[in-house]
Amino acid sequence: MNPKAEDRTLMNHIANRVFSELPVSVFEVMSRLARDHDAVNLGQGFPDDQGPIDVRRKAAEAVVEGSNQYPPMLGLPALREAIAAHYQHWQGLAFDPETEVMVTSGATEAIAGALFALIEPGDEVVLFQPLYDAYLPLVRRAGGVARFVRLEPPHWRLTEDKLAAAFSSGPKLVLFNNPLNPSGTVYPREDLERLARFCIQSGAVAVCDEVWEHVVFDGRRHIPLISLPGMRERTVKIGSAGKIFSLTGWKVGFVCAAPALLRVLAKAHQFITFTTPPNLQAAVAYGLGKVDTYFDNMRRDFMRSRDRFASGLRSLGFPVLDAEGTYFLNIDLAPLELKEDDEGFCRRLVVEHRVAAIPVSAFYATQPITSVVRFCFAKRDHTLDTALERLTGVLRRAP
Ligand SMILES: Cc1ncc(COP(=O)(O)O)c(C=O)c1O
Repeated sequence: MNPKAEDRTLMNHIANRVFSELPVSVFEVMSRLARDHDAVNLGQGFPDDQGPIDVRRKAAEAVVEGSNQYPPMLGLPALREAIAAHYQHWQGLAFDPETEVMVTSGATEAIAGALFALIEPGDEVVLFQPLYDAYLPLVRRAGGVARFVRLEPPHWRLTEDKLAAAFSSGPKLVLFNNPLNPSGTVYPREDLERLARFCIQSGAVAVCDEVWEHVVFDGRRHIPLISLPGMRERTVKIGSAGKIFSLTGWKVGFVCAAPALLRVLAKAHQFITFTTPPNLQAAVAYGLGKVDTYFDNMRRDFMRSRDRFASGLRSLGFPVLDAEGTYFLNIDLAPLELKEDDEGFCRRLVVEHRVAAIPVSAFYATQPITSVVRFCFAKRDHTLDTALERLTGVLRRAP
């Protein structure tokens, strides 16, 4: 038996299958190919810029001058107050910082904690495809049974028939991402009202991953699902400082929910990470209170990068889909009638043209959309221009 097969057999005995059977992800494959071919990496979703210097200085000061012992399990009071004030200011939401706000180690921990705290084995969980890669393994590990809603380009809308099918057997929970990575969709009120109606009718709790809430363009405002009538008591709202401040490595997340829900989420959190580095919490508390122009300028700068990259792609003949929010922009290969799917296209792109992107089929567990490719445009002009230069010949030499 070769060592890899032996390793697999051993793992089947000692490991949990949800994880041992996970294939190598396309993200890893593309990152490796990007390194091997010295490619411009527009696959992974992080910005070139280092994030606001004043927020980073606060973190440095806090680690030198502040306490480095365990902070309170729910988070530093100053941060919980800052989160409540921030959401009051930006989204008109009123949260009690003492009973309705908790700090987590990134949105990912908040999502894991919510799923572990709320799902009983066998419970149905509605998931929307394309989905963030962590969702399905975490739902399965919690014992949940996925009911998929398949969203489609170009608008990725939540239609009545799709929701009716997914909610037909009374799910316990809905895990919803808005603004949506990878599609860059910022859901309009009409779709959110439809989703809220199904949640209320079926008695489901909505876990709403809103990490991209500040990264929305063209004057759009993010509408939190928790603000819709009937949703205040049944929604878990999740945010991420990593996305708000372009500091993706910080892994500082937050959860807001009605007291009864938050109490049970806190019980899961106390045994997952218990807490989050206190200096990062102090810096995020400071950052959330920054003046409006900081947030407006951040959106304006990302929007400028989006427009630069989108118009470059269009001029090369790529059909560009709407990018309403997030760091991502997608092209739809369908009208080009190429002989390859999104994954084949991405492999050719990285190997022959030295630009890495992500095939959106990787975000589907079933019935994938195979014609859409995601690029991260949150990069410096020079990086985007180099990528565009390298993409010049792609369609001329398409198979
Ligand atoms: C939809 C979505 N949820 C969660 C995360 C992870 O957030 P965090 O780094 O705060 O754990 C990401 C990061 O890309 C994301 O796109």
